[in-house]
Amino acid sequence: MDYNKVVLAYSGGLDTSVILRWLIDKGYDVIAYIADVGQHDDFDQIAEKARACGASKVYVSDLKEEFLTDYVYEAIAANAVYENVYLLGTAVARPIIAKEHVRIAREEGAGVLCHGATGKGNDQARFELAYMTLMPEAEILSPWKDPEWLAEFKGRKDMIAYAEKCEIPIPVSLRKPFSIDENLLHTSYEAGVLEDPGRPYDKDMFKKGTHPFDAPDEPDLIRIHFKGGAPVKVEDIEAGTSVEGPLALFDHLNELGLKHGVGIVDMVENRLMGMKSRGVYVTPGGTILFNAHRDLESLTLDKEVQHYKEWMSIEIGRLIYNGLWFSPEFDFLMQSVRHSQKAVNGHVDLAIYKGAAHVIGRHSDSSRYDNGIASMDEHGGYDQTDAKGFIRIFGLRLKAGSKK
Ligand code: ARG
Repeated sequence: MDYNKVVLAYSGGLDTSVILRWLIDKGYDVIAYIADVGQHDDFDQIAEKARACGASKVYVSDLKEEFLTDYVYEAIAANAVYENVYLLGTAVARPIIAKEHVRIAREEGAGVLCHGATGKGNDQARFELAYMTLMPEAEILSPWKDPEWLAEFKGRKDMIAYAEKCEIPIPVSLRKPFSIDENLLHTSYEAGVLEDPGRPYDKDMFKKGTHPFDAPDEPDLIRIHFKGGAPVKVEDIEAGTSVEGPLALFDHLNELGLKHGVGIVDMVENRLMGMKSRGVYVTPGGTILFNAHRDLESLTLDKEVQHYKEWMSIEIGRLIYNGLWFSPEFDFLMQSVRHSQKAVNGHVDLAIYKGAAHVIGRHSDSSRYDNGIASMDEHGGYDQTDAKGFIRIFGLRLKAGSKK
């Protein structure tokens, strides 16, 4: 393995462009790696730019479908959520980006993995913890935690000066007053003007879609079919049309969600490093799927399994957020999530309307809903007088406790 050869996760932005050239100036052979997780970028142009900056080789990896089936749908199967509202759009993408990074390093015999995440955020931990599991022998280079780099680049100005000196084209996105991260599952907006948590975001900030204030007055009615906890088909109930296949299905849900302004969250979150941070996240298709999937579980899971899953979803959300996708504890919890999902088959009907994905009905051939019992019909196997003894025994300790 060559420790003079580095694979750099490259985005085409100013930071990673300067990092690329800086690595070359330090004597490294640099391979640029661009992950396509559904961000709307011009990948040919980014690859060209990496070459122009001096990369000896460029990889553009299309990870979209695997991202959906092996990461997004897994997180949704777990109902994973962070601090009640964040559906982990960025956090879920990091492990697959890191996994491909490692695959390329092995293929190239490169011993060094480099990323451009800052020393303040969660992404650095997500990348590096994944590298540590998947390629423990690799050396990790993180310029934003490197004293040499930090001495040279104290701010944007130094980087722009360096870029100009090396004739690195400076991207126009630099002018945006906040930082954006985009993939199939979500778009995040952070930093800059959003750093004041009391200041409402400007709805023109969104790269695409409609804000709920401007959403159509007519709902879209859809039916999502699930098999083993994963979506397999989306039907438009009124038009009678349907969409299948992971990418087409998710694109369709994203389109619908964006049309109606579904899945916007404005939150203050606790980062792994301890600081609080304000973020605005747009997760259109993911929010629709999340609601539908959780609803189908209410029909198909055993009560106690469902309740165990409730607290597991918080734990799994924390693990994903904290960069522990590739960890023994994540594997351990996901094994039981996967086991539970064998029962999650059927469909859910939703009305997508003014910023929300309302569930309006559900059906499953393996439903646990027993109409006979629910309607308290004696012939259905439920004798109301049984409840008397049950409650007497259930409340025994309450009586005993209050005698004192
Ligand atoms: N705060 C969110 C998270 O930690 C979003 C991070 C966005 N990352 C970025 N590099 N802009 O998951």
